[in-house]
Amino acid sequence: MISIITFIIGALCVLCCGLENGLARTPPMGWLSWERFRCNTDCLNDPDNCISEQLFQIMADLIVSEGYASVGYEYINIDDCWLERHRGNNGKLLSDHKRFPNGIKALSDYIHSRGLKFGIYEDYGNYTCAGYPGIIGYEKSDAEQFAEWNVDYVKLDGCYSLPSDMDKGYSEFGRYLNKTGKAMVYSCSWPVYQIYAGIQPNFSAIQTHCNLWRNYDDIQDSWSSVENIIDYYGNNQDAIAPNAGPGHWNDPDMLIVGNFGLSYEQAKTQFAMWAILAAPLLMSVDLRTIRPEFKEILLNRKIIAVDQDGLGIQGRRIYKHKGIEIWSKPISPVYQNFYSYSIVFINRRTDGTPSDISVTLKELGLLNSMGYRVEDLYENVDYGVLHPHTKIKVKVNPSGVVMLKAITQFY
Ligand SMILES: *[C@@H]1O[C@H](CO)[C@@H](O)[C@H](O)[C@H]1NC(C)=O
Ligand SMILES: *[C@@H]1O[C@H](CO)[C@@H](O)[C@H](O)[C@H]1NC(C)=O
Ligand SMILES: *[C@@H]1O[C@H](CO)[C@@H](O)[C@H](O)[C@H]1NC(C)=O
Repeated sequence: MISIITFIIGALCVLCCGLENGLARTPPMGWLSWERFRCNTDCLNDPDNCISEQLFQIMADLIVSEGYASVGYEYINIDDCWLERHRGNNGKLLSDHKRFPNGIKALSDYIHSRGLKFGIYEDYGNYTCAGYPGIIGYEKSDAEQFAEWNVDYVKLDGCYSLPSDMDKGYSEFGRYLNKTGKAMVYSCSWPVYQIYAGIQPNFSAIQTHCNLWRNYDDIQDSWSSVENIIDYYGNNQDAIAPNAGPGHWNDPDMLIVGNFGLSYEQAKTQFAMWAILAAPLLMSVDLRTIRPEFKEILLNRKIIAVDQDGLGIQGRRIYKHKGIEIWSKPISPVYQNFYSYSIVFINRRTDGTPSDISVTLKELGLLNSMGYRVEDLYENVDYGVLHPHTKIKVKVNPSGVVMLKAITQFY
């Protein structure tokens, strides 16, 4: 029933290549404004939801006070629409003077004073996607400006530029960031723009210069968007998954858990799947109003630990048939050649009742004859130690998941 996948190729790649700025040894975690707050610049009529220093200060405060920082969320990242429409006379980037009256350095200091890290957005192009000044022609001075502002994370988008220039442009900006001496996580949109332009991305170059990169569409606030992303990562896993590892990650885009578009089951599915994909966990949600059941998903330490596992191996889809999928991610500890695993069962059927899935551990590729200690990561269920021939049966709700962890046994 299940095709058994070996992860040896993925495991080897972890040893070889990638950006070595010492950062993002596990997928970055934090908060990013875009999906929830978009380019709302109307602080006059909508002061609580516009892109402003106050929004980022409030989110930073809540990341700490509501317990998100204590489970690992640390970056507070600005997305597009923080700039004035034009650079200053000296060519420097200016933040919008009404919405960021104290300037970016003051916001960076505020976020650092909360024990968090600060991220910013720019674009390798003539303009950002929303039409603010891009970095072309100012690469070196903008990198230096970010270092002066004590930026910890730079997302570089790719609107208003030629995808054929990106091999040169993204790597050059990466070198300028490096030369500043200030270590900054470097998030690239390099491959996604090239893929859309019909150019085959050079992933070995991308891994050498970027800590994370986007391969596919922006996430939208809907289940169909989440499904499309899951399908993209499953259908293209042979090309994509081996590129992930400590210091360099595929980025399927933000978490929309807690917004308007996902049901409770669907939100659990997004969170489980992002962990299986070793994805950056960047929440884009209003932390002032998030409902408790969604908050609980985002604070699930067991699932976060799967995402943040030190081996940094991206999981894969190992089964897909009639609306049922099984995904598997090798995790630590490893005993001899036997990995531990996290397994996700997804029910994408819409015929309206939980589906039973029954499978032996062997069919999931779990072959250690000493067995595996199996637990459910959403429900408090401990299955005890199971052996490869043991059949495990799970009941999966429509558009929901069951997520397990199977720890390889030593004796
Ligand atoms: C960016 O601006 C320059 C100078 O105006 C222009 O030559 C170039 O074609 C523009 N690039 C894109 C991709 O629009
Ligand atoms: C710059 O690159 C070198 C070589 O990869 C690395 O050792 C160093 O940590 C980098 N520095 C920064 C600030 O990114
Ligand atoms: C990809 O980039 C690397 C440099 O990182 C280069 O050595 C290699 O030739 C490139 N591959 C292709 C197919 O252009």
